[in-house]
Amino acid sequence: MKLPDFDADRARYPVSAFVREQSLWAIAVYRFGRWNDSRPPGFSKKLCDRIYWFLFRIVETLTGVSFTKAVEIGPGLRIHHFGNIFVHSKVKMGANCTLRQGVTIGNRHEDGGVPVLEDEVEVGAYAQILGDIRIGKGAKIGALSVVLQSVPPGATAVGIPAKIIPPK
Ligand SMILES: CC(C)(COP(=O)(O)OP(=O)(O)OC[C@H]1O[C@@H](n2cnc3c(N)ncnc32)[C@H](O)[C@@H]1OP(=O)(O)O)[C@@H](O)C(=O)NCCC(=O)NCCS
Repeated sequence: MKLPDFDADRARYPVSAFVREQSLWAIAVYRFGRWNDSRPPGFSKKLCDRIYWFLFRIVETLTGVSFTKAVEIGPGLRIHHFGNIFVHSKVKMGANCTLRQGVTIGNRHEDGGVPVLEDEVEVGAYAQILGDIRIGKGAKIGALSVVLQSVPPGATAVGIPAKIIPPK
């Protein structure tokens, strides 16, 4: 089983992260689920799908990190710490994004649109990014911010509701 995206994730973690950082368990299960979905139909795929959902529930319950294989996430995901992290199933995230504990990325209203995060977005602890918005490449989201508008590439968003600080 080759998982190049997971290799890129692990490259953003310290050595031995698998035994030290619970968030990596959630990422491993996610990459496994995506890998299985990319395979041709058959018994083995069905079996692995059952295994995926079983592992997903265990890891979600143990770590409080919740994003299913429906989310599109580029290589090099880094999650600092764990707990209360929720990403809506329709969210798209680019490569080398960083999340922290308490982050929610989802809709503002039931059935509403959800955010797209471009590459290298950095999200501070407990930030909430909500609605049909786009977070540009390399943008930073402040800890505890509630982001309800798109953020240009390289800009910083802080506060509730978040105000945009243009790139320096
Ligand atoms: C958003 C962040 C990246 C900004 O860092 P920065 O680019 O160095 O920007 P500054 O510190 O110069 O702050 C710029 C302005 O935003 C304000 N600001 C910074 N972070 C803020 C936050 N989380 N909420 C509200 N305002 C914030 C600053 O007070 C400053 O306001 P001012 O211009 O009125 O003085 C950083 O403050 C942050 O929140 N990082 C998240 C880190 C994190 O989650 N750590 C948890 C570790 S477990």
